[in-house]
Amino acid sequence: MLHVLEHPLIQSKLTLLRDVNTKNEPFRRLLEELTALMVYEITRQYPLRDRAINTPLEPMTGRVLDASIVLVPILRAGTGMLGGVLHLVPMAKVGHIGLFRDPVTLKPVEYYCKLPPELPDAHIILVDPMLATGGSAISATDIIKHEGGKDIQFLCLVAAPEGIEAYASVHPNVPIYTAAVDRQLNEKGYILPGLGDAGDRIFGT
Ligand code: PRP
Ligand code: URA
Repeated sequence: MLHVLEHPLIQSKLTLLRDVNTKNEPFRRLLEELTALMVYEITRQYPLRDRAINTPLEPMTGRVLDASIVLVPILRAGTGMLGGVLHLVPMAKVGHIGLFRDPVTLKPVEYYCKLPPELPDAHIILVDPMLATGGSAISATDIIKHEGGKDIQFLCLVAAPEGIEAYASVHPNVPIYTAAVDRQLNEKGYILPGLGDAGDRIFGT
């Protein structure tokens, strides 16, 4: 259930994003661009339905997305990916799950949750740039499933082997889409080589 998105545009933008010399403004822009490219890849199997329209020359039956889509960013860094998804699927509903990782225990602490009522029947895209220990993504997926969500795709940018293993062991039916699988976590739970603290780099904190 692990998919590494190898498209050259994705890989190239990820390298720019990781660079320590990339400041907040280009970091935010690259993150949105990368997310849009990844969403293009992960929505390939979404269903279509017919729609009758008129071109300037004659009537025809075109096809449009036939999917209720709910996007769930994990606060705060996940909100940096929101614009990139909404750019391609502006009709998506958006839920929010607020989690932060306790710096000592590395366990996620929940502080906010608001999810749309469409959740049970929707294609759900859970987004967070980083899958480190896996604690935050596991918790967010637990919450979504508890609220009735079934069809979930987890989209991140950089994943650690430790986080992939932990997530897959708890949620084996949820596919993980990432742009990179990095080497390991350091003693503080940061991904190596990674890109640093995603939230801090997005928001300049
Ligand atoms: C970061 C990141 C993930 C989490 C990943 O968030 O955005 O949510 O860490 O780590 P994990 O896989 O070990 O749980 P952080 O807790 O720093 O909060 P923030 O987004 O508010 O900066
Ligand atoms: N959260 C981040 O923002 N970066 C990491 O490397 C690990 C967790």
